Amino acid sequence: MINELIIPKPDDMHLHLREGGMLKIVSQHSASQFGRAIIMPNLKKPITNTSLAHSYYDEIKKHTKSYQFKPLMTIYFNEGLALEELKKIEASSKIIGIKLYPKGVTTNSNKGLDSLQSGYNIFEMMEELDIPLLIHGEVNDTNVDIFDREKIFIEKHLIRAHKEFPKLRIVLEHISTKDATEFVKESSNKIAATITPQHLLYNRNELFLGGLRPHAFCLPVLKREEHRLAVLDAAISGNPKFFLGTDSAPHKRSEKESSCGCAGIYSALNAMEIYAEIFDRNNAIEKLENFCSKFGADFYKLNQSKEKLKLTRSKNKVPTVIKIDNGDVVPLMAGQDISWNCSNI
Ligand code: DOR
Ligand code: ZN
Repeated sequence: MINELIIPKPDDMHLHLREGGMLKIVSQHSASQFGRAIIMPNLKKPITNTSLAHSYYDEIKKHTKSYQFKPLMTIYFNEGLALEELKKIEASSKIIGIKLYPKGVTTNSNKGLDSLQSGYNIFEMMEELDIPLLIHGEVNDTNVDIFDREKIFIEKHLIRAHKEFPKLRIVLEHISTKDATEFVKESSNKIAATITPQHLLYNRNELFLGGLRPHAFCLPVLKREEHRLAVLDAAISGNPKFFLGTDSAPHKRSEKESSCGCAGIYSALNAMEIYAEIFDRNNAIEKLENFCSKFGADFYKLNQSKEKLKLTRSKNKVPTVIKIDNGDVVPLMAGQDISWNCSNI
């Protein structure tokens, strides 16, 4: 039995840090376990250009001074991205890619794209400059059943975009279906995917366990068990196209426990411990290191971290609530026992 793992400091390839008082606290939770994280640009005023990304970077660095933490910034895909701006993005050592939200699919995505095709001229320039495209892969058509939105997005839009721009590196974010795992496996090595802890842990029953569970609500929404199993299988398969991205997305408790609760699950405080728990429960703890410290870095053409993180098998409990910015946030696995602890060495 493996009781201790020492691994290169992991990368969280999909993270929401928000702003203000929330940013101050949650950025430190991530920085205590991760060496780098890809920061999502869906702020109330989205990060639509290099200059906004650089200011946001400075803000994050200010709050994480006592850690060796590098935020990898993203730009919110928008039709105003001209060649000149794309060249600045490519040249910036602080920016890693561009995040595309179909309009209206999730939190702060009302400035997203209406159709993927309207982004094709920008995809062409990104392909040329080798700037990665990070996609929230769901259709925004409310007539499409919410449990099918990822599958339909892949079939109707993503397959075509990948064919049109075969050299464009694309990350399909927070995959939640068997269809997504198959698409990624069958595509070229320009396609990869991030996997969250919640899509590994739960199927859609979790949303209705004895009542309506707002803290299990995220987008893409949790799916049937067969999909969870396919995503889990991909994560522990050792296939380098699948890597860690928590999609940790804090919302105040009052905004989740409401008549129209926000989508998003907060996992950053115990993220590495929870991933270790999941891999361990599935007899795959030896597959964790590459999933969290190597595959993502390779895809994004980054060096692996020289810093180390130690994971130890010992009793741990996820707090029931975290005090943040005069409110509460309820974390993933709130109040539950887990068997792993992490520390920096
Ligand atoms: O559940 C989600 N929350 N999914 C997303 O795509 C966005 C995120 C957020 O920003 O709250
Ligand atoms: Zn996200």
